[in-house]
Amino acid sequence: MSRQLQFDEIGGWSELKLEILKKYAAAYSTILSAQTKASLFHVYIYAFAGAGKHLSRATQEFVPGSPLNALAVQPQFREFHLIDIAPDKIENLRELIGPRKDVFIYQGDCNEILLKYVFPCVRYDREPGTSTRLVVYNWIKNQNGVAYVRDSRGNQARVGTREHANGVKFVQTYADRVWTDNLLAQSECR
Ligand SMILES: C[S@@+](CC[C@H](N)C(=O)[O-])C[C@H]1O[C@@H](n2cnc3c(N)ncnc32)[C@H](O)[C@@H]1O
Repeated sequence: MSRQLQFDEIGGWSELKLEILKKYAAAYSTILSAQTKASLFHVYIYAFAGAGKHLSRATQEFVPGSPLNALAVQPQFREFHLIDIAPDKIENLRELIGPRKDVFIYQGDCNEILLKYVFPCVRYDREPGTSTRLVVYNWIKNQNGVAYVRDSRGNQARVGTREHANGVKFVQTYADRVWTDNLLAQSECR
C-alpha cells in the first residue's frame, strides 16, 4: 500500500521548520540527559507524525520528517510515541522505522490516543524499575517474556499480548483460555 502513498510535498518554510526542530530536539535531549534525578527520563511524543518522509518542492528529493530526525538525535530520547490518523502513512512509518523496542506507533485520532494510551504510560512519577504496558508487550511478544498476575488468594493468571484493530498494542490476562481484565484492577499502568 505504501507504494501508492502520496507523500506530502513541502516548501522551504517546512524544510526550515524541520531543521529548527532537529536542533531544538538535540539541545533539549542533551539538557534532559544531563539531569541527575534517576527517576526522570524524557520521551518524544509526536501526535501528527506523518509518513516519515516528505518530498521537497525545491529538489523533488525525499527529506526525512520530524520523527526520523528525532530518532537520530543523540543523546537519545528514552521512548518515541508516534501517532497519525492516516493508515497508509502509519504503514509507511512502520516500514521506515522497522522493529524497535523504544518506538511505539499508533494509528488513530491523536485526541483519543494521547489520553487513552500515551499519557498514562509516560507519567512523571513512573518509578525506576517499572515498565510501561508497551515495554511489557514487547518483552512478552518479542523476547519470550513470561508474566503473571497473582491475587491475594494466590490465584494466578498469565499475561498475554493483544492488538486493537487500530494497531494499538496492549497486554491482558487470560485464565482458563478466556481473556479477562485482571490488569485493570491494578493501580497503575506498569
Ligand atoms: C503535515 S503532516 C505531519 C508531518 C510532520 N509534522 C513532520 O514534521 O514530519 C500532518 C499529519 O497529521 C495527520 N493528522 C491530521 N489530523 C490528525 C489527528 N486528529 N490525529 C492524528 N493525526 C492527524 C495527517 O494524517 C498528516 O499525516
